[in-house]
Amino acid sequence: MTGRTITLRDFDISPFRPIMTQLSTRRFLQGAALLAAGLLLAACGKKEPPPPAPAAAASAPASAPAKVYVVGTDAAYAPFESQNEKGEIVGFDIDVVSAIAKKAGIEVKFVNTPWEGIFNALGQGDRDLVVSAVTITEERKGTMDFTAPYFDAVQLIAVKENSKVAKFADLKKLKVGVQTGTTGDEAVSKLLGKTNTNIKRFESTPLALKELEAGGVDAVVADNGVVIHYVANNPGGKFKTVSDKEFVPEQYGIALKKGNAELLAKLDKGLADIKADGTYDEIYKKYFGAAPAKAAAPASAASK
Ligand code: ARG
Repeated sequence: MTGRTITLRDFDISPFRPIMTQLSTRRFLQGAALLAAGLLLAACGKKEPPPPAPAAAASAPASAPAKVYVVGTDAAYAPFESQNEKGEIVGFDIDVVSAIAKKAGIEVKFVNTPWEGIFNALGQGDRDLVVSAVTITEERKGTMDFTAPYFDAVQLIAVKENSKVAKFADLKKLKVGVQTGTTGDEAVSKLLGKTNTNIKRFESTPLALKELEAGGVDAVVADNGVVIHYVANNPGGKFKTVSDKEFVPEQYGIALKKGNAELLAKLDKGLADIKADGTYDEIYKKYFGAAPAKAAAPASAASK
């Protein structure tokens, strides 16, 4: 608004002359004054939208964008998680979690995350979930929550075809490659001693297996599924596998930050649902060729 006051002089009353013949000039001017006042009010009272009630906005989940759960995974662990030629993260774990998320009605996004630091990222909230062929252990349960187990696994030894290694204890005096901080690392640390310089720790399991092929280590101890997959896909490496009853059975779970009971319940329900309706078996068949054995640990059966 300008500061100037609008007066009746501002209105051209000539179009109204004919009416004015019926109305007294005075009454016409009174009416015009009222009209002008009304126009002024309308112009000044610039209608603002009512301020959003903050409480109402916060409690309106229908309009809020759906939360996307960020899932950390060390995608160098085929067939559980790896990157295809397009750079997409694919694998058994990815299909399982995607199917669970669908059942649970939640959105997930997979983010390649180095194994070292993957649980820190979870604890700090940089990742909402970790699916990375993570073995449920008592120690880990101290700092994170796990869903029900979704896969049975066990450690398996990879050696060169001509190796004399026949059992785990045979590794005692040898150079052994492991992925840092895995259950394979734990098992070998127990046998050789944690600080034994014969333990060669790698940031990924494929790197350890490449070193075996190059002759830098005599053996690699890692999850059976990954070792079997690698050996099958690298015939040029001339590897063989050695299993041992000494290795304790392991089970994979999806890891969550401690204390999110609601999300945990949703995931467990989703997992139960995909097991009940055959989705899980289908995914299993896609990656391992056969439906999982019902009673026994399917993965350990595969390693024989
Ligand atoms: N199952 C083993 C563990 O939990 C190894 C998992 C490694 N996973 C991976 N994506 N690199 O320690």
